[in-house]
Amino acid sequence: MLGEVQERIRSFMDQVGNPNVSHLFSQVVCGKMLRSKLILAICPHHPKVIDLCAVIEMIQSASLLHDDVIDESETRRGQSSLNAVFGNKNSIMLGDVFYSKAFFELTKIDDRVARCISNAVVELSRGEIDDVFMGESFNSDKEKYFQMLRDKTASLIAASAESAAILSGLDSAKYRDYGLNLGIAFQIVDDLLDVTQDERILGKPVMNDFKEGKSTLPYILLYEALGEDQRKILISYFREDKIDAQKWFKEHFYKYNIIPLVIAEARKYGNLAIASIKDQNNRLLEEVVESMIYREF
Ligand code: FPP
Ligand code: MG
Repeated sequence: MLGEVQERIRSFMDQVGNPNVSHLFSQVVCGKMLRSKLILAICPHHPKVIDLCAVIEMIQSASLLHDDVIDESETRRGQSSLNAVFGNKNSIMLGDVFYSKAFFELTKIDDRVARCISNAVVELSRGEIDDVFMGESFNSDKEKYFQMLRDKTASLIAASAESAAILSGLDSAKYRDYGLNLGIAFQIVDDLLDVTQDERILGKPVMNDFKEGKSTLPYILLYEALGEDQRKILISYFREDKIDAQKWFKEHFYKYNIIPLVIAEARKYGNLAIASIKDQNNRLLEEVVESMIYREF
């Protein structure tokens, strides 16, 4: 069914009726479609399910196009980012086409779903703004980090699960909680992979987050474990591209046992996600959590 979702996105983009848009769109690399997998696992037989998935994936793509411009990222999903090849202007405008067309289609689905998704886009934009502000100096406040992550990443995942539950007449609050906790776990795993994986698997430069100005959980937990002098060294690497940084962080993450701590945190949220829908008898949703969290890092 994921193939049908891709087809629907293509057809929506064809309806825009512009060869430049079609050309730029043909260069966008498809992701794992996590949000569609959740929707398909919750309301697989609803007549609007493919449209809902397509709308969510288009909003997700729009946000990543804009994010790569904001982060000045050269790569996305192992390939050159659209902004690196076609420039910032085209990336922003293709993002705007994705976003506007998605909202046009969203209004045809269901009013409650339209409110849920549009509110999530406010939250994810708010999260991205916080992320930019937090990039100005190292942030050691865990609560601030979690709030930003809830907004930036978890809100659209939560809205996807909630919307699918609304369409199915299920208890939408439970599915929203599931999505929120899954989204937090997902971003923690993503932040962890940035420090544990190599570039080939990751599809982007390794330990890139800290250089980009993102104080993610591994760095916050390390900061908490360090003494005053070492904290100064950690902060001196923030937003810098120093050659010895990678080695220093690897050694200190190991010395202070940071990786297992971060995995435990991701599992905590993964378990909360599973607990939210425990009485819903949906094995597929539990498997999504397990496949994401219980793996090698
Ligand atoms: C990736 O974060 C970015 C997001 C999850 C959301 C970005 C949201 C916006 C730019 C707002 C979009 C607004 C509209 C209207 C579409 P990251 O940089 O931490 O992750 P990455 O490593 O995948 O780039
Ligand atoms: Mg980014």
